[in-house]
Amino acid sequence: MTTLAGLPTTPLPPFVTYQDQQLMVEGASLAALAREHGTPLFVYSRAAMLQALAAYQRGLAGRRHLICYAMKANSSLAILQTLVAAGCGLDIVSGGELERALAVGVDPTKVIFSGVGKTRAEMRQALSVGIGCFNVESRAELDVLDEVARGMGLRAPVSIRVNPNVDAQTHPYISTGLKGNKFGIAHEDVLSTYQHAAACEGLRVVGIDCHIGSQITQTGPYLDAMDRVLDLVEQIEAAGVPIEHIDFGGGLGIDYQGDNPPEADVLWQALLQRLDVRGFGDRQICIEPGRSLVGNAGVCLTEVLYLKPGEQKNFLIVDAAMNDLPRPAMYQAFHRIVPVAPRASEDAPTWDVVGPVCESGDWIGRDRALAVQSGDLLAVLSAGAYCMSMASNYNTRGRAAEVLVDGAHAHLIRARESLTDQTRLERLL
Ligand code: LLP
Repeated sequence: MTTLAGLPTTPLPPFVTYQDQQLMVEGASLAALAREHGTPLFVYSRAAMLQALAAYQRGLAGRRHLICYAMKANSSLAILQTLVAAGCGLDIVSGGELERALAVGVDPTKVIFSGVGKTRAEMRQALSVGIGCFNVESRAELDVLDEVARGMGLRAPVSIRVNPNVDAQTHPYISTGLKGNKFGIAHEDVLSTYQHAAACEGLRVVGIDCHIGSQITQTGPYLDAMDRVLDLVEQIEAAGVPIEHIDFGGGLGIDYQGDNPPEADVLWQALLQRLDVRGFGDRQICIEPGRSLVGNAGVCLTEVLYLKPGEQKNFLIVDAAMNDLPRPAMYQAFHRIVPVAPRASEDAPTWDVVGPVCESGDWIGRDRALAVQSGDLLAVLSAGAYCMSMASNYNTRGRAAEVLVDGAHAHLIRARESLTDQTRLERLL
């Protein structure tokens, strides 16, 4: 829905505003940034990230806690730097992410290593820097970690990822806490796995963790998962294995399209109440939020290349594509698309907004009413999470540039990838 002046009627994400009919991120004009850096271009608001983080910090204030930003959501160094400087630890899933974490100077004891497929080399790398915790996802992984740590004369701090068999009520590809998922150790095997871990010389049990999915918009699944995890903590401690920290993972959703997730502080008020009632209020709490810290802090700017009206569909061909914004193609995800400089027009035809990649699946938005002309700029909203970090070079398209806005200052935090960058590792016969 738009007004006669072409302005959207639904509220925009924090720090994204129209001023004099021009879209801004904080104090920076998006049209000016596109002129300076070209398109497609990701633009992030530092204040939006810090505001999202502050909600978690308020929610957990007064408790022993560690907020480990799940950097898979957006692992660009300046973004990690921003969140680490604001007090975050990091949740990583690869040796590469560990290198990025170390590059921004995070305290390694505030890093959690998640994921089902850690290699021995990655385990050694993480142990040698003194990582805070390995979230272990199978008995086989536990045994390999024990062996690697003993080989280094160390004890690896471990937490076991529990699969609580809770339905997060989200897209099946991003739901992880159900029995049929590859993630975590089944509820009924958790106690014996802890007893085994406690007996391993190369391991030191420090916590328990779960993560039930992503883009969760309700409190219920979190409460259910918490209950299931606390039931297990009772059993594990009764068996003589103390649990220092409880890690509830990430997963809190954001508003893409009128979604209405709880605010992080409201969610944590409810969760802490349950934790207290169950008598575990004294434990250290860890969380691993990704999307909810950065998702709505970013937009992707793209230029309209061609208008292609058709009999069945009108196509708006833009210069961003599925390699920049893979979420619609992968999950049929919805991202709002708004004009950077709205045109006053009563005629806003309906378009499928598509990219130049040679795939029918290369779409960014379907059936969008937009009054546009070739050369106009559009902003794809809520593009801060799982866009740049999932971008590819498909069709030999260089990955987009990124800008981080702080007030009126715009910092280029990643230059546009050139063809030389792309072919650097290749050799002719
Ligand atoms: N912790 C673990 C163990 C995870 O697997 C994930 C995300 C997170 C934390 C952070 O979850 P968040 O707070 O961001 O929901 N590419 C998909 C999302 C994949 C999520 C994978 N795991 C998307 O674009 O929707």
